[in-house]
Amino acid sequence: MKPSVTETINFYQGHDPATLVATYGSPLYVYNENIFRQRCKDMKNLTSYPNFRVNYAIKANTNLTLLGIAKEEGLHADVSSPGEAIAALKAGFTPDDLFFIANNISAEEMSFAIERGITLSLDSISQLETYGKLNPGGKIALRFNGGVGGGHHENVITGGDKTKFGIRAVFIPEVKALLDKYNLQLIGINHHFGSQNPEELYLAGVEELLSIARHFENLEFIDLGGGFSIPYHKQKGEAPMNLAYLGQTLTKYLTDFTKEYGKPLTYMIEPGRYISAECGVLLGTVHSIKQNGETKFAGTDLGFSVLVRTTLYEAHHDIEVYNSSEGPLTPISIVGNQCESGDYIAKSRPLPPIKEGDILGILDAGAYGYSMSSIYNHRPRPAEVLIKKDGELIQIRRRDTYEDMLANML
Ligand code: LLP
Repeated sequence: MKPSVTETINFYQGHDPATLVATYGSPLYVYNENIFRQRCKDMKNLTSYPNFRVNYAIKANTNLTLLGIAKEEGLHADVSSPGEAIAALKAGFTPDDLFFIANNISAEEMSFAIERGITLSLDSISQLETYGKLNPGGKIALRFNGGVGGGHHENVITGGDKTKFGIRAVFIPEVKALLDKYNLQLIGINHHFGSQNPEELYLAGVEELLSIARHFENLEFIDLGGGFSIPYHKQKGEAPMNLAYLGQTLTKYLTDFTKEYGKPLTYMIEPGRYISAECGVLLGTVHSIKQNGETKFAGTDLGFSVLVRTTLYEAHHDIEVYNSSEGPLTPISIVGNQCESGDYIAKSRPLPPIKEGDILGILDAGAYGYSMSSIYNHRPRPAEVLIKKDGELIQIRRRDTYEDMLANML
């Protein structure tokens, strides 16, 4: 039989998925440190442009152990809330390492960043006015929306007119007037137009952002955003992004633009998924098999409280079945244990024979998996374990207890 994806990359390093689930409970998030480190390195080495900074968008996965490894690998961090900033600081990042890219935040949240010296990016004229009143003379960054948008699903497109994000270029005169009014220094501009984008679209976005940068004279940095894609269809042989091409083209764009700008510039990127998706597999257990008319279902403990991407974005995740049965691939829908019909991991997916008690592995679940989990139906969020460089297994988060889920209620 053809080796599975996890066998090909030696994901489990000798650990047995069924034993992991027996030890730490089902479902379970399993991460591989080597893969996480490699993805950090890929991004750090993306371009040879000298002043280049990788801010890991920690919303993809905020586990403190993984954040600590990202810091060790020389990454910085993009945070989207005070809570994420606190997590990053706890994991060892310094306030200087953080870039707080805010959307519709309160004055208190702005003060949180100002008091700690965390660089803040705002993304509307009205938020800029609030900031100006709060911190006249301060240094600030702004998120622009150049018009290009893209992504694997409508809900993740963050560029163009249909999204709430960023300031459109037509408002540059208003921006300049507010900067003058409050004596603010615009030290950086940034954008992020969507997730899971191909190379050419990313580059088109970069060109747009650089054309916005031409309107501002004293920038210290330009942040080109995240959105790098990963191959979710590995079982069909999908190729990874062409980072060599993307990197070389970026190097040219950045070198040329800095020359034109005439002042030193740092460039940053904000990859989230690229850093953490592929290092994670979500394990779950099959509890029932059912035929409803034409559709065969495998009922599992992988509800959308554990992984919501499939329900929210109709996202594809490759699935591995860990059992000893062999047989032809037949279509089966993998569903969870939540009381909603939208609760599924895959619809009519051709998979090998599945029976009760089998363990399933949902691949590429390290980004926006645990970080988007919830306690819907009062199901505890799962534990997380890490297979370290040398194969040693450590637990990096315990499973919620039923008491945890009741703890905040008065
Ligand atoms: N920068 C900003 C300002 C962002 O809002 C995001 C993601 C990123 C960077 C990182 O994007 P990435 O490189 O991971 O594509 N939950 C969705 C993705 C939504 C991402 C939201 N913002 C998913 O599971 O596909």
